[in-house]
Order: sequence, then C-alpha cells, then structure tokens
Amino acid sequence: MSNPEKKPIVLSCIQPTSIPTLGNYFGALKNWKLMSKDNDCLFAVADLHALTVHPEPAKLRQQTLEMYSILLSIGLDPVKNIVFIQSHVPAHAELAWILNCYTQFGEASRMTQFKEKSIKHTDNVNVGLFDYPVLMAADILLYQANFVPVGADQKQHLEIARDIADRFNNIRGNTFTLPEPYIGKLGAKIMSLQDPTAKMSKSDTNPKASVSILDEPDVIMKKFKSAVTDSEAKVRYAEGKDGINNLMVIYSCCTGKSFEDIEDEFYGKGYGDFKECVAQAVIDELKPVKENFEKYISDKELLMKTAADGAEKALRLANRTLYKAKKKVGLLLDR
Ligand code: TYM
Repeated sequence: MSNPEKKPIVLSCIQPTSIPTLGNYFGALKNWKLMSKDNDCLFAVADLHALTVHPEPAKLRQQTLEMYSILLSIGLDPVKNIVFIQSHVPAHAELAWILNCYTQFGEASRMTQFKEKSIKHTDNVNVGLFDYPVLMAADILLYQANFVPVGADQKQHLEIARDIADRFNNIRGNTFTLPEPYIGKLGAKIMSLQDPTAKMSKSDTNPKASVSILDEPDVIMKKFKSAVTDSEAKVRYAEGKDGINNLMVIYSCCTGKSFEDIEDEFYGKGYGDFKECVAQAVIDELKPVKENFEKYISDKELLMKTAADGAEKALRLANRTLYKAKKKVGLLLDR
C-alpha cells in the first residue's frame, strides 16, 4: 500500500470469538466494506485479543479461519485492502509493550468494558483483559490510522488510544497519527431482540437474543417473530419503545429507508407484519454473505495463502512504525 494519493488510512479489527452478530455487521463490518472503496484500509482478525477468554486452542484456530472467511465474504477485496490476522504480525504485541509503559494504571482501570467484564467473569480477571485497550491502541497506531470504524461500545477504547498516542508524541516527539473513531449514524448499537435495553452480543446465553450473520433464513424469521416489543401495536420511533426502535434501525440499515418512510409503510399494520418484513430484509441482506462464506470456508489453502499475503503487506507497514517507536524510546537497534 504505497499511499501515493495520501488517501485516509482506515483500520479496524474483530475478535474471532464466534460468528458475528447483526450488531457486529451493522456496527462495524458493513461500514468496513463501504469505507474500503475510497480509503487505504487494513482489516484484521484480532486473535490475540480473543486469548483473554481462554478459548479452546483448536476452536480458536477454526474460529480465526471462519472470521477471516467472513471478512472476504462481506466483500473486502484482499488485493485492494490489507486483510490479515493480528498474531501474524508480531509488531502488534511488541508495540503494545512499549505503549504499556506510556499508559497510566488509572486510565486503564476506568475502561467500562474492563469493569463490566471483570464483574461478569470474576473467575478470570486476567492482566490481558486489563491490557486489552493498549493492544488495541497498538493495532491502530502501528498503521498510522486516521479512522477506525467501530460500534459505539468501542468509543472509549478509541479515546484511550488517542490519549496514549498524544502522550507518547508529547514525551518522545511526533511518532503516531491521532486516530478518530468512525461510528455510523445508524446501527452503532444494535440491541438484543429479547432485552432491547442491552446491546446484542456474541456471548449472550439466550440464543433468541442475537442473530448470527450465518443463521439459516428460517431461524432468522423465528428470532424476529419472537422479538420483544410493546403493547402499543403502532410502528413508530419513540422513547420507551426500545424493541420497535431497534427493529426500525435494523430495517433502515437493510433497506436505506428513513424512519418516516417506515412509519408510513406500516401505518395501520400490526407488529406481526412488521417483524416479518424486518426478518425478510435481514435474510436478503445476508444471503450473499452466507453464499460467499460456504465457498471460502471450504478452501483452506486459499484462505491461508490470502492471509499470508495480507500479513506480509501489514508487516512491512507495521515494522516501519515499530522501528520509529523503538528508536524514540532508546532501544538499541540491531540494524
Ligand atoms: P468485537 O469483536 O467485540 O466487535 C467487533 C465490532 O462490532 C461492534 N459491535 C457492535 N456494533 C453495534 N451493535 C452491537 N450490538 C455491537 N456489538 C459489537 C464493535 O464495536 C466492534 O467494532 N476490541 C474490538 C476488536 C479490536 C479492534 C482493534 C477494533 C481489536 N483491535 C483495533 C478496532 C481497532 C472489539 O470489540 O471487537
């Protein structure tokens, strides 16, 4: 990626913890695809981040391949973009260590996700979980990214990445570009279908709460039909109608229709009709992804070759920044 026209650099990653949900798709992946047209983009499977939850090794390897296939299946072109696996580029872990020394314990302790996860998994509050945002900062700063497309839940992690970069630049001289989050107007926080006050999450134990982007059409239909709504029986976007609001957001993300258009379309109709149309729109949206996935996942050789090419390109860029950072902090360089 020579960047002769100085296009903005975009980077984002996703953990291979399980098949992405509609939340991951509308909050992040769909924007990755849109941004990949006009920017110099890097997209990675964040397998090092996934280690914080101690996945079974063979399962992690399989899920990493599946997530890599999904990135190709949503239409990211691995020739125009750099699509890689985080652990294939050792510079991520190396820079994370350097950045650890420029991150205050207090600021890392304030991360909402760390606090929430520590409460949820009291038996495994490991240092990796605490350090998660610093590794994320390394992912971003290594490539001098200008924009990072993420869902709303990652905003705080982007803020700390900026703070770390800014502190490093002030102490050691200009080294890192300060990244900005790119959070879409719609879909930045897709909510659970069973509890629309909580975000849709890959780790939800209630299978009806989240839709995986590879769910079969009949499963998607069933999940939407059982989505929690309210008793007003009127399709309109309003405070206190979290379930309907969430379905309207999803429908709008799929069809591009405004909330006003959606209210007109379903005027006088019941929630049953609406839920069915939302489900059908989701099924149509995901059909090509699912078809592409079947094709990619059965070709391990192609996946491994594409990932190796991606890593080689990423490595070149990453090492440039890592070298600069090492020099700035006073490490004795061997070349
Ligand atoms: P992960 O795998 O948990 O989530 C991937 C992306 O999905 C977004 N997301 C959502 N968006 C809308 N509604 C939801 N319900 C929803 N749930 C998840 C997340 O905001 C995220 O953008 N820490 C990152 C992975 C990462 C990363 C990075 C991201 C590692 N290094 C560097 C950006 C830059 C994460 O949470 O992934």
